Amino acid sequence: EAIEKGGYEHFMLKEIFEQPKSISDCMRGRLNANEGRLVLGGIREYANKLITADRIIIVACGTSWHAGLVAEYFIEEFCRIPVEVEYASEFRYRNPVIKEGDVVFAISQSGETADTLAAIELAKSKGAIIFGVCNVVGSSIARASHEGAYTHAGPEIGVASTKAFTAQLTVLNMIALRVAHQKGTITERRYHELLVELENIPSKVEKALKLDNQIQAISEIFKDARNFLYLGRGFNFPVALEGALKLKEISYIHAEGYPAAEMKHGPIALIDEEMPVVVIATRDSSYDKVVSNIQEVRARKGRVIAVVTEGDALIPQMAEFVIEVPKTDEALMPMVSVIPLQLLSYHIAVMRGCNVDQPRNLAKSVTVE
Ligand code: G6P
Repeated sequence: EAIEKGGYEHFMLKEIFEQPKSISDCMRGRLNANEGRLVLGGIREYANKLITADRIIIVACGTSWHAGLVAEYFIEEFCRIPVEVEYASEFRYRNPVIKEGDVVFAISQSGETADTLAAIELAKSKGAIIFGVCNVVGSSIARASHEGAYTHAGPEIGVASTKAFTAQLTVLNMIALRVAHQKGTITERRYHELLVELENIPSKVEKALKLDNQIQAISEIFKDARNFLYLGRGFNFPVALEGALKLKEISYIHAEGYPAAEMKHGPIALIDEEMPVVVIATRDSSYDKVVSNIQEVRARKGRVIAVVTEGDALIPQMAEFVIEVPKTDEALMPMVSVIPLQLLSYHIAVMRGCNVDQPRNLAKSVTVE
């Protein structure tokens, strides 16, 4: 086992650090920005169904559901196709409206999650076309899908999903860009810009991983907190959910992820000088609004840990801790901004003496409902 961990103390840490490679592996042979090439071999016969789809329904559970939420933002933005993101367990039991030719994306690391599998069987029986985004080759969900694209992130052993999440986002971005380009819903210029940015994500993730020591020091300060709040807006809202989930899963600290603007409709009541608030505040179209949200937290004495874009001069004046990540396009930022949150949950869990790779009550793959 020590050999399999490749010198890391835990599989989770190894998998966090593998992300520059797993994201590259996921793009290998598919994307070449220089040549303007983007091919997904697994989506051929049904590619047209995707381009002409009236809507896309995404079904998934857990972290994969968070990847689906991020995808909702960029698919709608790039492809102008309405997207609904559903918890597979809710979708399968509520007599959903599905018509012939509707497109369903099923996202699953293991490809074995019972609820996701049942959701796609239901959608299929009503005539939907299923595209699987799975990590495990030949898994049940991959086989039950009409077509799809593997994430090729390599085996993920840690129960808390990390590299599968960033690989899912990579694949979903490639699919969205391909569709948008064919539909003409994205300008040629932006398309090329995004291909280049996507290709650069592994090196930006590599850079974000260098924050490890800083995050370890922050973890030391907050390891005994009883609650955490995570806030983000736009593309970073699902990242807030994912950061909170990671912390809950492995450190057993209660954490809530929230869209920053919704804070005033509830969670703001929880904020006092004991509440760490992780705010993902990278430079994007919601930046000014997030800055106001940070001020609202500060006014209530909350302890702000902000994830910002490198070089940000404003937020360091108001946040107690600032974590700088490299700049990228806002649609791709979740792949970078999630990295410090993965590390934060990892270090806090280790400091609390938790079993990081096998947290209590959780399973890597939930094959029962
Ligand atoms: C379990 C795992 C999570 C995972 C979820 C969905 O809860 O502990 O890490 O995100 O299942 O799994 P899937 O294999 O379908 O992505």
